[in-house]
Amino acid sequence: MDLSTTYMGLKLKNPVIISSSRISGDLETIRQCVSYGAAAVVLKSIFEEQMSLRVEAKLKRSKENEAYYWFSEAKEKVLSLSREAILEHYLRFVKAAKSIDTSVPIISSIHCKSADNWPKYARQIEDAGADALELNISIFPFNNSMTSIEIEDLYVKILKKVKQEVSIPVSIKLGPFFTNLCTITNRLVDDGVDGLVLFNRYFRPDLDIDTLKVVSREHFSSPEEMSLPLRWIALLSGRKIPCDLVASTGIHYDTALIKQILVGARAVEICSTLFQNGIPHIAKILEGLEDWMMKHNFEKLDDFRGKSLDFQTTDARFERIQYMKRDFEEIF
Ligand SMILES: Cc1cc2nc3c(=O)[nH]c(=O)nc-3n(C[C@H](O)[C@H](O)[C@H](O)COP(=O)(O)O)c2cc1C
Repeated sequence: MDLSTTYMGLKLKNPVIISSSRISGDLETIRQCVSYGAAAVVLKSIFEEQMSLRVEAKLKRSKENEAYYWFSEAKEKVLSLSREAILEHYLRFVKAAKSIDTSVPIISSIHCKSADNWPKYARQIEDAGADALELNISIFPFNNSMTSIEIEDLYVKILKKVKQEVSIPVSIKLGPFFTNLCTITNRLVDDGVDGLVLFNRYFRPDLDIDTLKVVSREHFSSPEEMSLPLRWIALLSGRKIPCDLVASTGIHYDTALIKQILVGARAVEICSTLFQNGIPHIAKILEGLEDWMMKHNFEKLDDFRGKSLDFQTTDARFERIQYMKRDFEEIF
């Protein structure tokens, strides 16, 4: 069986990519993922906002630094130097991750607060040896001062600026909250995005019904959620969008991976399933894929990539959003 695939010009030995989370923020767990067969790793995102918060908190804690607050220029200087130190630390991490196994591409993930900083970080990360960049752009779509189109403009602006700065491939990991995914993806493709990762699954607030306060805990995805990327990958690859598509969210088992490839995905990114089933689960997913390919006489992924779309006469199956009587007539 040949499980190999390509993604944004990178050669992957199979379609399983580790998505960005703390699993990919630690060299030891990255090593384990690689040893169980991961074909590529998206490193834990570097968050500009978190860097600033960390630096601010450190300065506040440190009594002797209080003087800086009297001189705003001095404070700015200290803040920028400390940010650079954190970035340096991240760049060393990229280098170390890259040296684990040179045949496993390392994709670095960045999230910046201001549009201007993305290119600067991107360039340094490329210099540190990352094979590709995944832009974790997530502009919260509840904003009185920006229209939907202005939010989309910002996605495009960030992409253009980063593309000008680097020569490695650049993907964007989108969230599902757009008024029209068709237009935003068209714009990103026109402006040179090499890959789209559909979708990021954001932090979800919950309430404690005793304290009535919001609690923050890790909520992992469930396997049923894979129908979200399934629909959009089917629709976009049905339109032969000239950009590599990767499915993320709810890919827990081999079956979900197979389905995403059947609608045209180049690869999948997995996260929650590793927290829930352990890192060795990667090998099980790959075994399941091989068994299924053997059963169906497929020798390579291209033998069945997008094949399911041949069996749907139109996109209607994936565009339907209402449950209608027809569903029940078909079932019973
Ligand atoms: C604990 C945790 C941390 C995450 N951190 C990041 C991150 O730093 N950057 C990012 O782009 N996505 C992050 N994600 C989102 C995942 O990469 C992934 O897109 C999402 O969980 C959906 O995939 P899944 O269903 O396989 O979990 C995180 C998810 C979890 C559960």
